[in-house]
Amino acid sequence: MNKHLLGLEETSEEEIRQILATAFSFKEVLSRPIPKVPTLRGKTIVNLFFEPSTRTRISFELAEKRLSADTITFSSSGSSVSKGETLRDTARNIEAMKIDMVVLRHNSAGAAHFLARCVDSIIINAGDGQHEHPTQALLDMMTLQERAGDLRGLKVAIIGDILHSRVARSNIHGLKKLGARVAICGPKTLIPREAEQWDIPVFHRLDDAIQWADVLNILRIQLERQKTALFPSLREYASQFGVTRQRLLRAKKDVIIMHPGPINRGIELENDLADSEFSIILDQVTNGVAVRMAVLYLKSGGRLEAEQRS
Ligand code: CP
Repeated sequence: MNKHLLGLEETSEEEIRQILATAFSFKEVLSRPIPKVPTLRGKTIVNLFFEPSTRTRISFELAEKRLSADTITFSSSGSSVSKGETLRDTARNIEAMKIDMVVLRHNSAGAAHFLARCVDSIIINAGDGQHEHPTQALLDMMTLQERAGDLRGLKVAIIGDILHSRVARSNIHGLKKLGARVAICGPKTLIPREAEQWDIPVFHRLDDAIQWADVLNILRIQLERQKTALFPSLREYASQFGVTRQRLLRAKKDVIIMHPGPINRGIELENDLADSEFSIILDQVTNGVAVRMAVLYLKSGGRLEAEQRS
């Protein structure tokens, strides 16, 4: 097992399966009247968030509390980063206060790898720029296993802004390792050049992707990361690539809809569909806590056996 969790590209199939199996047993812990175990008592975890987050930050904080760790969350706004302090200095100063683990969200691709070289603490990547968001992909895979069982042969179409999406990259690496079939779909301007190396189907017509897939994982249009206009207007994007009930008439009858959030309702996904019988979006959020507990536990040296946690 790697010391850090920096991305799923460098995580083995065996480790992914171990994290998911551990997450399922932590899900049982979370259903107890007192959903808390003493597993990480005495460990100190710092959540370093240099970018906004709702789901990832809160679920890491909850996971840490459910494991009885001591935990601090740092937001770059209001910190000495605004006075020019670097990521390296920020992390090394926090580490000097004797911590065990850092959960890092940063707007630069490669920030988690960089930090792993600067400090001794265990680094968990909570999303680095356009690079990877490994715990999001792990919770997506857990939620799919819950719904569909074995992922081997399952057809997952990732739709939308692939270019800017760390969620897409982590899902592609993780799902392929578990034997799922993955495709991407979006306008040519939102498909990165590196897609050729992924060796997966690329659809430029949404209807083709919908007909092919068992699962639609729909991504947010990330306007904040676009330096130039990559499509004429949001209205035009929605008309070509927005997933609607009308378009689902071509889908398999039990098609599954996923979205990592936050959703631009009415743009990439029709408002009502996000809350429909097809959607497992809130199940993804629920499973985020168990997956993050599993990652924190295993990276702290825990083993899969349940008796280690009770
Ligand atoms: N899916 C996800 O990373 O959401 P947040 O940005 O709210 O953490």
